[in-house]
Parts: sequence; structure tokens; C-alpha cells
Amino acid sequence: MTEPNEIKVEALLSIINSSAREAMAEYKNTGHGVPGIDANTLHPLDFATDTLALRKAIRLLEGACEQLNTILAPPQHTAYNFIHNYSWACTNVATQSCIADVLEKHPEGLSVDALADAVNFDKTKLARVLRLLTLRGCFKEVKRDVFANTRLSLVLQSTNDVGFNLQHQRGCHKFAAVLYETMTNQEFARSDEVEKSPRAFTLKNEGKHGSFWEMDEEASEIFHKCMIGHSVIHGSYTALHYYPWDNVSSVVDVGSGTGTISIPLAKMFPHLRVTNQDLPEILKLSRNTWEQKAPEALLDGRVEFVPLNFLEESPVVGKDVYYLRSIIHDWPDNEARVILRNIRKVIGPNSRVLIHECVLLRKFEEADVGANGSTEALEPTLLNFGSNTPYQHDMAMWLLFNGKERTLNEFKNIGASAGLVLTQTYDLVGMMLMEFRIAQD
Ligand SMILES: C[S@@+](CC[C@H](N)C(=O)[O-])C[C@H]1O[C@@H](n2cnc3c(N)ncnc32)[C@H](O)[C@@H]1O
Repeated sequence: MTEPNEIKVEALLSIINSSAREAMAEYKNTGHGVPGIDANTLHPLDFATDTLALRKAIRLLEGACEQLNTILAPPQHTAYNFIHNYSWACTNVATQSCIADVLEKHPEGLSVDALADAVNFDKTKLARVLRLLTLRGCFKEVKRDVFANTRLSLVLQSTNDVGFNLQHQRGCHKFAAVLYETMTNQEFARSDEVEKSPRAFTLKNEGKHGSFWEMDEEASEIFHKCMIGHSVIHGSYTALHYYPWDNVSSVVDVGSGTGTISIPLAKMFPHLRVTNQDLPEILKLSRNTWEQKAPEALLDGRVEFVPLNFLEESPVVGKDVYYLRSIIHDWPDNEARVILRNIRKVIGPNSRVLIHECVLLRKFEEADVGANGSTEALEPTLLNFGSNTPYQHDMAMWLLFNGKERTLNEFKNIGASAGLVLTQTYDLVGMMLMEFRIAQD
């Protein structure tokens, strides 16, 4: 008789097999075949905005591979790997010194001596950094001490939205290093306040302070450019394809930033009237970005810019959709509730509040409501359905703002406390679109 543990391993193997085949089919459907680990160009699917089927397959594949490794490897091996994983530091070296940009001009490869000269590093140290990354197919050693780009390292270029985002991710590792201290410090340990985050703890120890959102112009420009890379990484543009935007006339982008989503939305659905609402200084940046990227929308008068402090006031009244991407997760529950209550005050009976966030999937969560296939698509054999990235992102929100990613039930509860009811969900993998309406008493 087959042991239960063996049955579990077999089930994981079968998830790996079927999800890998689904991913391969998605690549092949483009007519360009499956990408190679040492490909030196991006695959056309890498530029696509609708990669939902691929992302669904990868969620299962990644979760199952990690779980299988944990089952079959000695526990000390897995535990050691948790701590000693410096891919982030080596990626940081590569992005800060623009290695992928330099190699772009040398598709056949460049000797580590020439590369080290170009970026002003010691060649032996640089080779050690690169060799660690090549283990996962990020850069390749084409012959001894000669390195070239791969499909994976190409996204690290500073001209790539993803590379730009990764180049500016240094803060979180510094704040993560004091996580334990913040959990044992009397002042910080049990506080949910924004000013008691690991970031705030670090700044305090350095004799500094300041809200994350008080940025000078240069920092704002960098941050909002990073949000474009964030959208690509988390597949946010999928929302353009799966929400019934044809049935919407007016959208308020609440905490719009520079229009990461609303600019492509206005381009794809020219009938939409868009209101951008953010802090006044950000709106200046937003208007400039629209002028550059979607001047036609400004000329047609389809877009407006209305300053808003969403913790203190309500957005404009009575529009169809109030869209919030990556807003609620920046805030602890109290502030999140205030933002939603301020929106609830101005929405009409047919308005929808559309929250676009990472959602934590949990094995022991209550059954889902009104989900478009999200629960059925998930694999119960996997711990937390293989949902890994949202859990890592949850840590980032904690480190920066004492914010958090939430489960669907947590969103439902926070919506309910603001007089809103969850009426529809769209599982876009990692991120979800959650549609709320006025709750009927
Ligand atoms: C993580 S960004 C998301 C921006 C945009 N929704 C996107 O997806 O790119 C959070 C946004 O909230 C805005 N924000 C922060 N505090 C705010 C406040 N009190 N009132 C209005 N907007 C605020 C920031 O300026 C920033 O644009």
C-alpha cells in the first residue's frame, strides 16, 4: 500500500508536471516556442499585458517545487538556505552598476576583466557575484571568465521598468535586518501605527524621521517610475483585460500616483473619463506624465486632476468606479478603514469601489464569495495554494509602513466596517480585483 506521504509527493509531482506543461503551451501559443535558460533575447510573451494563464501555471509550479524540495531535502539544508540566500545582494550589485546595460553592447560576451574595468570593480569579486547569479540563469558564462546577458539578466537593465524598480529596492533589506528588534522593543513591538514600522525604527536609530510619503521631487519621480515596474512584476496590467471597463463611464483613480494603470486604461478605453486624485505635489508629476504619454486624453478633456488627502477628505462625488491600486496595503487597518469610509460617503447606488491588491491565500480561510473561479483554480494539495510572492510582499509592507497584505476575508471585513459589501472578485494571480458596492442594511 502506498504511504500517505508518498501520495503527497506524487500529487506534487503531478502538479509540477501539469503546470509546467500549461506554461509551455502558453509560450508555444505565441508561435515563438519555449524560452531557453540561456536565451539572449526576451520572449514576446514577456512583453504581454495579459499573461493570466501563464501566471496561474507558475503559481502552482513554484509552490509545488518549493514544497517538494522541503519534503525531500534534509531540514537543515532547507533551513540554512533560508538564511544564506544572497541573490538579492548580488542582484543589487548588478543593478547598481548596470552590468546588464554594459553587456547589452556585447551579445557574444565580455571578459570579466573588461567588464570589471567598465564598472570599476575588482574582477575576482565581480566574477563571484556573477557566478552566483548564473546558477539561476541570470547572466551566463559563455566561456571561462566571459559573461553575457540572458533573458533573465536583460530585465535588470536600467532602461527596463523592472530593472529600474529592482535598482531602487535597497531600503527593505536594511529594515528587515531590524525586524526582530522591532518585535522586542517596548515602544514598537505591539504598535500598529505607521510611525512604528521597522523603517521608522531604523530612521529613529539614525537620528532621522519622516513620513514615507514626504518625498522631494527627485525621490517622487523615482518612486512613481518604480510603480510601473511593480505593475509589470505583479501582472497588474491584466486588470485592463478582465474587468468590464466597457460598462464603465467614469473612473476615479484614488491615490493615482502618475497614472500607472489609468494611463494605459484611458488609451485602451477612450470612452472613459478619468479623475486622478493624489496629494497635490504628486498631481503635478502626474499631469506631466499624462502630457508625455497620453496627450490626446488631455486634449479631449477626458482627464482631470483633483488634489486629495484621502485620510482627511472624500474623493469627487458620484463616479462609476473608485479604483485603488496598491493603496490599502500601505496602511494599517485604522487608516485603511478611514480611506474606504471617505469613499463610501460620496459613492452612488451604482458606484463600485475597485480594490486592486495582492491577496493572501490561506488554507484555513473561510469559503470565498462571488469569486470568478479563484477557489476552484487553486490546488488544495499545496500549502497556502503555492501563494508565495504575496507573503513576501506582505513583509515589505510591514517593513515600510506597518502596512500589510490581506486575505479576502480581511478585505471583506474592512469593507463592511466602511459600509461596503464585496460583490465580485477577479483572481489575477498574486493581485486580485475586488469589487465592492454600498452595503444594503
Ligand atoms: C503605492 S503608491 C500607488 C500609486 C498608484 N495607485 C499605482 O498603482 O501606481 C501610493 C499612492 O498613495 C498616495 N498617497 C499617500 N498618502 C496619501 C494621502 N494621504 N492622500 C492621497 N494620496 C496619498 C501616494 O502619493 C502614492 O501615489
